[in-house]
Amino acid sequence: GRCVVAVDGPSGSGKSTVSRRLAASLTARYLDTGAMYRAITWAVLRSGVDLTDAQAVAKVAGEVDLRIGTDPTGYGVTADGVGVEAEIRGPEVTAAVSAVASVPAVRALLVARQRDMIAKAGRIVVEGRDIGSVVAPDADLKVYLTASAAARAARRSAEDASDVAATAADLARRDQIDSTRKADPLAQAPDAVVLDTTELGIDEVVAKLRALLAE
Ligand code: CDP
Repeated sequence: GRCVVAVDGPSGSGKSTVSRRLAASLTARYLDTGAMYRAITWAVLRSGVDLTDAQAVAKVAGEVDLRIGTDPTGYGVTADGVGVEAEIRGPEVTAAVSAVASVPAVRALLVARQRDMIAKAGRIVVEGRDIGSVVAPDADLKVYLTASAAARAARRSAEDASDVAATAADLARRDQIDSTRKADPLAQAPDAVVLDTTELGIDEVVAKLRALLAE
């Protein structure tokens, strides 16, 4: 039957790995909403429009042909037919994504697409920042993953071989933009189960979520 799991939380909280593993173990689909904001950001950077020009950014977002798969073991992301999986993880996109994601018209566009994909999938684990609060407030399970700032920076820099101090600074900068933006600021859904993953392994977190779903 239908089963929608919303997994929200900041960068380095473990949400991507946990969400993919949980989806695979439930034989459900998986949607990485951050990848959608990143792909739009890639298109905005390619277009050369001024990042502070919300109207111009929204126009590019509305025109780009964004496609994303929902297979938890590997999904493709294309923008106007170009595969952008690697590019969207690069420093240029990471530096610009929070600004692009704070444009209300960009959020409205992507939230509508995400709701559509969720409705079509029926069984799906969706990860992001606003899934439990905005995209799927009727989700069967809402989880908010956290971890200490140090653990988050350490995980992220281990993933992409970046400097720990620079990563910690970048995470703090994005958290600040994400939590203070006017449209749908990063906020925990009041009914989300909060899990601090600082001392937990991936398997332990997945097992906890499976137990919560079985309740
Ligand atoms: O895991 P990491 O924080 O690197 O990023 P992500 O999940 O790929 O999301 C990248 C950025 O996209 C976030 O910092 C937010 O600015 C934005 N985002 C958002 O606004 N809403 C979402 N549902 C997902 C991502």
